[in-house]
Amino acid sequence: MDRIRAAARDLRDADAAVALTGAGVSAPSGVPPFRGEDGIWNEYDPDALDVWRFRREPGAFWADWLDLRADLLDADPEPNPAHEALADLSAAGRLDALVTQNIDGLHRDAGSEEVVELHGNARRAVCRNCGWTTSADDAVARAESGDLPPRCDACDGALKPDAVLFGEQLPRDALVRARELAADSEAFLVAGSSLTVEPAASLPARAAESGATLIVVNLDETPLDARADYVFRGDVTEVLPALREAVGE
Ligand code: APR
Repeated sequence: MDRIRAAARDLRDADAAVALTGAGVSAPSGVPPFRGEDGIWNEYDPDALDVWRFRREPGAFWADWLDLRADLLDADPEPNPAHEALADLSAAGRLDALVTQNIDGLHRDAGSEEVVELHGNARRAVCRNCGWTTSADDAVARAESGDLPPRCDACDGALKPDAVLFGEQLPRDALVRARELAADSEAFLVAGSSLTVEPAASLPARAAESGATLIVVNLDETPLDARADYVFRGDVTEVLPALREAVGE
């Protein structure tokens, strides 16, 4: 039995199957990944976009954020066959939950419902003072009209993109849920992630420790490859649809 069909069988037979995705799943949609030859962090200094800079100088932070966001999302990215394959697996009841590190919202656009956004969502902006939220488009429009930083309508606090910045705590409920899903999974599929940023990077090991079958789909090596039951060194837009196909109904 070829490896795709074997992995599909294990995915199909699992009572609880969970996926963890990273920037490599959105890269085919034109959203640049963070690492690798065309990675965002080759263009931008991560320190300029961390939570301490936001607190110290929110206006300058937003000026840099507008540039980074333009590179990430201005192409108005659409879901690609990798997002669609994962949404199909969920719709067929073969994937119980999807944990993503991506902030682009494309999994939900593709129809995935049970999505745990570990690193937030760049389509929202939030006031760190009072929790008031607005759309990122609204916040960006205010910033582009000169409000650097854009301010909260409720308390005049500085708005922040609702993506988790380096140095920031992850949303607690999302992290607790992701850890539970990993520990309870019988099959854990990693797609398009370098698995270099904690705590997301520890989720696959947590699943494997609970006896889950570990499937990794990634162009480059990951630290989990040695522990994985299956490693597909290929493009997510090819491997995930093939896996979806092999799982069947
Ligand atoms: N098919 C398969 N794998 C791909 C593809 C593709 N088409 N394109 C890229 N990849 C792989 C790369 O080989 C790389 O290992 O996706 C991985 C993307 O890794 P990163 O850019 O590090 O993205 P990610 O793992 O999601 O980063 C985690 O780091 O900067 C923070 O908060 C940011 O959520 C991000 C976190």
